[in-house]
Amino acid sequence: MGAVASQDKQATLKGSEPSVAPLMRLVEPGMARVNALILEMAGSHAKMIPDIARHLIDSGGKRLRPMLTLACAEACGYSGENHVKLAAAVEFMHTATLLHDDVVDESELRRGKPSARMLWGNQASVLVGDYLLGQAFQTMVQVGSLDALAVLSKAASVIAEGEVLQLVAAKNLATGEEQYLKVINAKTAALFSAATEVGPIIAQSTADMRRAMAEYGTQLGLAFQLVDDALDYGGSSMTLGKKVGDDFREGKVTLPIVLAARAGTTEDRTFWSRTIEHGEINDGDLERAIDILRKQGAIAATVERARSYGDKAIAALAALPAGAHRDALEEVVLYCISRVS
Ligand code: IPE
Ligand code: IPE
Ligand code: MG
Ligand code: MG
Repeated sequence: MGAVASQDKQATLKGSEPSVAPLMRLVEPGMARVNALILEMAGSHAKMIPDIARHLIDSGGKRLRPMLTLACAEACGYSGENHVKLAAAVEFMHTATLLHDDVVDESELRRGKPSARMLWGNQASVLVGDYLLGQAFQTMVQVGSLDALAVLSKAASVIAEGEVLQLVAAKNLATGEEQYLKVINAKTAALFSAATEVGPIIAQSTADMRRAMAEYGTQLGLAFQLVDDALDYGGSSMTLGKKVGDDFREGKVTLPIVLAARAGTTEDRTFWSRTIEHGEINDGDLERAIDILRKQGAIAATVERARSYGDKAIAALAALPAGAHRDALEEVVLYCISRVS
């Protein structure tokens, strides 16, 4: 399948925008229980913990990963209650990484509100993130599936590894596509993949089904992060709920920069060296960066790449029986890509 495949799919949606609504409708009863469990897991007698956790939880978030866990379990025929626990654990792992990530990235805005670090400070954000991670693991243990625990604990290590790899690559314009892909595979796709793989695990599906669902999550995660990286130069803070241009200010070498750094005029290259490598950023530089990236087609190329991973995600869904769950999981892929196009 190529880029054309997702465009064809898009056409079959009869002109309406792809959305997460079908997925939401399918998993709504389960998600109500996930949300209740999340609030319970945020509890602690150390008051600052629920204060910070609730700040982030009550700010919303798309809840994409727990919805995927519920849907993939149900799509594989699971009918028990443990998928709710795993979904809550997955969202808690995600919440913990966001608390840590905003400290690392010095981000001021998250989910449309000041990030926890702006209100409680870096130390509190790191410590509460650790607590949430601990709570996530306790909830997983209650499920009693060593395989699910193995997949999710591996993802926890891999995410941290990805963040470290990214830290090391920051400000280095020699970073190539391969290195960038390694980073996003680890920091983002690993959790999507774990979220989708634990469904077939608790449904006791075949090894082939596990592989297919893990593949779906991986490819969707890659597409998701590529879109997020494109939006950092092309979206609006209003709809994103986070500050546009954070990656640029941090000197993060995301795919748009990787592509631009190897093309462009000498003047452009001097610009990237001053801003990304040396961190000398003046008023108007973000606008200039966006302008160069657009002219070079680096944003469009990033979105195109997301589209091709999206096609792979959709292809992996062929392992599932046809039906409402498969359709909804397919539409999520298109939704993730449509956030930017
Ligand atoms: C943000 O993920 C972190 C990335 C992997 C880019 P989401 O965009 O899913 O965050 P929320 O949960 O909806 O806020
Ligand atoms: C989000 O990464 C955190 C992880 C995936 C671990 P980013 O730093 O790229 O995402 P935002 O832009 O802060 O959401
Ligand atoms: Mg960040
Ligand atoms: Mg980051």
